[in-house]
Amino acid sequence: MEVSAVPPKGVGADWTVPQHWESYTPAEHAVWDSLFARQARVLQDRVTPAFLQGLDILRLSRPGIPDFAELNERLAGATGWQVVAVPGLVPEPVFFEHLANRRFVAGRFIRAADQLDYLEEPDVFHDIFGHVPLLANPTFADYMQAYGEGGRRATRLGMIDALARLYWYTVEFGLVRDGDGLKLYGAGIVSSYGESVFALDDPSPHRLGFDLERVMRTRYRIDDYQQNYFVIDSFEDLLAQTRDVDFGPLYERIRVMKDIEVAELLASDRIIHRGTQAYAHAKQMSA
Ligand code: PHE
Ligand code: FE
Repeated sequence: MEVSAVPPKGVGADWTVPQHWESYTPAEHAVWDSLFARQARVLQDRVTPAFLQGLDILRLSRPGIPDFAELNERLAGATGWQVVAVPGLVPEPVFFEHLANRRFVAGRFIRAADQLDYLEEPDVFHDIFGHVPLLANPTFADYMQAYGEGGRRATRLGMIDALARLYWYTVEFGLVRDGDGLKLYGAGIVSSYGESVFALDDPSPHRLGFDLERVMRTRYRIDDYQQNYFVIDSFEDLLAQTRDVDFGPLYERIRVMKDIEVAELLASDRIIHRGTQAYAHAKQMSA
């Protein structure tokens, strides 16, 4: 997506803007409420318990689009994170700098009532409902900060694309093991009604054990449901495999390796569910 290199007029040097909570209309608050009700229902037995705890700690079940100032008081108390509003997508280095300082950037606009399932850019429902509950979890909160710090380094090394895949397959589309079963935690999944069902219940996508190098080599699609999901054991394990690992040698190794295609399987994969890929194939036929 196109991101301008300098902040637009009236936007701060750090790209933040006031949320202007008082200017949301009743119709906009009502869109939040209907999205919230639908997701609360579908996620009840599908999402990681840490997410539901986050909703509770942050009182996100109260009606209406959250006021960031109020949300930030609770978030600060839980993990020291803050939410800041931005006008849209921001350049990667700006994004990393905010994360490294425990600030999560969020869009302030909300989708239209007749577009509940279609989004060209992340809106306040995706950014707040999808991402912020887990920022109240101390382990996940530390992962997000470490990711921002890792982003500075990846920028210097020219490896942003590899690091972005890690974000995609964990923060946005991650699954986590839960006893013998799986649970959702990725924000791109939990803010989408269709994908909340698809990612966990549909036979189509591959579900593979998380492997850092594998993930950083794997392409992803931004136009439809994922064709593979990666499953972590726990947030503690994700943190141990990322914050406490030097990505330098890893970057040097994968720099010269081929990308892995979206639905490709490798002999070394830990296959939790081998997908039929029926959904993606049917889509392709009708295209
Ligand atoms: N340890 C990583 C590095 O050496 C930084 C990082 C931490 C990246 C957590 C992603 C997530 O670059
Ligand atoms: Fe997101």
